[in-house]
Order: sequence, then C-alpha cells, then structure tokens
Amino acid sequence: MTDADRPAPAPLTRAAARAAERAAEQSAPTASRTPTDGTPTSSTPVVSAHDLTRVFRTPAGDVIACGGITLAAHPGELVVVRGASGAGKTTLLNLLGTLDTPTSGTVAIDGEPVAGMSDEQIVLLRRNTLGFVFQDFGLLDDLTARENIGLTLRLRQVDARERDERVTEALALVGLADHANQRPEELSGGQRQRVGIARALVGDPRLLIADEPTGQLDSGNAASVMDLIASLTHSRGLAAVVATHDPAFVSRADTVITLQDGRVI
Ligand SMILES: Nc1ncnc2c1ncn2[C@@H]1O[C@H](COP(=O)(O)OP(=O)(O)OP(=O)(O)O)[C@@H](O)[C@H]1O
Ligand SMILES: [Mg+2]
Repeated sequence: MTDADRPAPAPLTRAAARAAERAAEQSAPTASRTPTDGTPTSSTPVVSAHDLTRVFRTPAGDVIACGGITLAAHPGELVVVRGASGAGKTTLLNLLGTLDTPTSGTVAIDGEPVAGMSDEQIVLLRRNTLGFVFQDFGLLDDLTARENIGLTLRLRQVDARERDERVTEALALVGLADHANQRPEELSGGQRQRVGIARALVGDPRLLIADEPTGQLDSGNAASVMDLIASLTHSRGLAAVVATHDPAFVSRADTVITLQDGRVI
C-alpha cells in the first residue's frame, strides 16, 4: 500500500481526550470566554502578527524579506502561505516560530507578545506550544522512527512509559504503526515526512509551523501529507501555518496568504 492509498488514520485516545478538552474550553459560556485577565479565549488567535517587518542588512543593501505583514491563525485553522521563491515565506515562518526576531512589528502567541517574554519563557514556548515540520524532514539518520519521534520527549525528561505510549499514539496517528523500528533510509519520502509530522505533534503543540513540508515529495505522497496536515489541524484544534509552492495545498486551506517581495498581495 502506498502512502497515498493509506486510509486516514483514526484519532487516538489521548489525542482525542486533549482535543475534547480544548473543544470544551472553546464552547464554554460566553461570559467565561471574555476574561479580563489576559487568559486566552476561543477568539484569541494561537498566533498573530501585526505589521511584521524583517529587514536583512547585506553588503548589497537592505533586503525587506517581510514588509509589514499582519495575520492571525486560530485554533483549527490552516493558514497557507504561498509566493514565489524569495517572497519571504521562510522568513515569515521563522518570525512566527520565534526562531528569528522582527526588525519591527509584533508576534503574539495566545495573545501574549513574544517580545515581552524572557529567554526561558521562549524556550518553554518552543517546547510546549510549537511544533515544526521541515522540508528535508530533519530526522536523525541513526535513529528509528520511534526514536526520532521520542527524542523531544526524552529531552523533556518524560518518563519512559509515558514516552512509549505517546510515541505509539503519534505513530498510529500518522499511519506508521508498522514502521516504528525503521530508520529514515528504510522509509519512503512520504513516510519520512509522516515521521516528521509525528515528531512535531508528539509534544501536543497548539501551533504547527511547516515550511514546504511537501517540497521533496512526489505528487501522491504530497497529497497524502497535505491531507494529513489538514485533517490533524482540524481534528486536534491546532493552528497551522504552512508555507508551500504547491497549489494543491491551497484547496485544503482555511486562509491563504500570498506574498510577493515580502508583502501580502
Ligand atoms: N539571512 C539572510 N540574509 C540576507 N538576506 C536574506 C536572509 N534570509 C533571507 N534573505 C532574503 O530574504 C528574502 C526572502 O527569503 P525567504 O527565504 O524568506 O524566501 P522564501 O519565500 O522562503 O523562498 P523559497 O521559496 O525559495 O524558500 C530573499 O530575498 C532572501 O534572499
Ligand atoms: Mg523558503
């Protein structure tokens, strides 16, 4: 069976429970969803950017990689960022993912400006709230799928039993239960990216950031990975921001942002 033929994976117990908790929070009575103490509400975007600008100073002159971008991604919303090579997609994702600092403008996660956070808060944010998926999968060659996915939990010192349980869930979630002990070189490109997605999700993030996640996949595997990202975003109430050159991703998006020369067009 190819990845493209694989049936959509069933949501799993722990993931379903967490999604249900989130859904319950979001459907709480209006009064309790409009707190005045800064607590996130269902209308609070998971990530928002206001007038976000990033200028790279180079010997050849200033490059405005992002020029005043404003956007938001809410729970369960798949935002697709598209644009030609050099349009600023990676720069924008790096800013939203706290991997880079804007020249001006703000990024807020759950309504809280990143600029006001301490280094320790940002480390915790990356660990607990953000999940990253990379074009080149970013897997360690010597580790099996199970070990690659479990690495972040090891770093978090999650105990072995819980780790095993969560990795098993994540493997099933991406349809790779039968490939747990294979190393990346023993997996197809589509399967490797599924491992990458499982690794991003095993920590139960609220925001998924994916930079050209199908860039190295053939069209069948790309479609399968797109469907997986879209269905997980919706079923788990994640916010996802995905940069892509692939027009087929646009049809799965809730919101499409087109960049040209660092600006939204
Ligand atoms: N570290 C840097 N120093 C100088 N210029 C940079 C740097 N990073 C990116 N740029 C420039 O910023 C612009 C946007 O680059 P970015 O990588 O965000 O584009 P992209 O839309 O992701 O392109 P691609 O589709 O090729 O990945 C480009 O002109 C690029 O040359
Ligand atoms: Mg890029």
